[in-house]
Amino acid sequence: MHFSAIERVPGDPILGLIEAYAKDPSPVKFDLGVGVYKDAMGLTPIPQSVKQAEQRLLERQTSKSYVGGHGDAAFGRLVSELVLGADSSVLQHQRAGATQTPGGTGALRLCADFIKQCLPGRGIWLSDPTWPIHETIFATAGLKVSHYPYVGADNRLNVAAMLEVLEQVPEGDIVLLHACCHNPTGFDLSHEDWRQVLRIVQRRHLLPLIDFAYQGFGDGLEQDAWAVRLFAAELPELLITSSCSKNFGLYRERTGALLVCAQDAQKLQDVRSQLAFIARNLWSTPPDHGAAIVAQILGDPALKQLWVDEVEGMRLRIAQLRSGLLEALEPYGLRERFAHIGVQRGMFSYTGLSPEQVKQLRDQHSVYMVGTGRANVAGIDATRLDALARAIAAVC
Ligand code: LMR
Repeated sequence: MHFSAIERVPGDPILGLIEAYAKDPSPVKFDLGVGVYKDAMGLTPIPQSVKQAEQRLLERQTSKSYVGGHGDAAFGRLVSELVLGADSSVLQHQRAGATQTPGGTGALRLCADFIKQCLPGRGIWLSDPTWPIHETIFATAGLKVSHYPYVGADNRLNVAAMLEVLEQVPEGDIVLLHACCHNPTGFDLSHEDWRQVLRIVQRRHLLPLIDFAYQGFGDGLEQDAWAVRLFAAELPELLITSSCSKNFGLYRERTGALLVCAQDAQKLQDVRSQLAFIARNLWSTPPDHGAAIVAQILGDPALKQLWVDEVEGMRLRIAQLRSGLLEALEPYGLRERFAHIGVQRGMFSYTGLSPEQVKQLRDQHSVYMVGTGRANVAGIDATRLDALARAIAAVC
């Protein structure tokens, strides 16, 4: 038989939780697994701005023919402005361009193949820990994957250790950084930390790849782009992967972009020709629907304002859930121990719970989170904070 030597691999640890949670008959279960936002009803809503944009598309779209290799030009321009700022000098000098991809994951995969094919011999450095798919996507593309420390066993951000290792990274290697809302830990760098990283990148001629999957979920749409814009302003070359999954609620529409900043407009076109070639061999042309929605929203001032307000609403709700959980933990004497939940940003919290405690939470209290102790704060039901705190207290 042709397939007889093929062995089964374990299922994805994050996506597997969706299935396990759905199967649990408990009426009081908590879904803190996969990184999706949930509203007060426990639903992952379609934003009103998205609904309205879809309605317009339904009425006005005249063709479902292919978009080009880089996707829809309007989407690319508008996403570039969202990420780099409407007044970005990099954009004014035509030094940056976006390639539409199937989600942020598609952007990462395109980037991985680009590095492998166009920058041979370069390794990539990931934070320890990082999103597990970062590990596999670059390894699968054939890159040497190494790590810099980020959060230690004490569940604290260790910037000194991070900088020390970055100082040793071989010249020319790629360093993947999380723009905001670090996945899985929720610990973000301060502005001063970013400046220190930038100085090392410049001194050692490293190439940063900034993964920007949660714009708007940390401190705000503009604030979250601070480090990306600093790097774009100070460096001649930069790679950025941008996702519309979370902030537009377009998870299943697979909408994202790979942005490249190059030294000048000519070199940008050289790089983009390679990206189009690689993308053609990966997915030919990107899916359109989500990107068409995003272009409708960002291209219309009224619709954009509605969306900005909706993103801010999601951000504030997550921030409230963080403080609400800390208050709920107080009567159990656990507020201090989990104080980091209030410092972390975005959807995720590295809780510091051990794999054994995570298992107990799941088996005995129907609380689902990733085995590493990562909880999706955005999945918490605000009306049952005490039940969650009681479950956590029971395993601590
Ligand atoms: C997560 O980390 O939960 C999200 O980014 C969803 C995913 O694809 O893993």
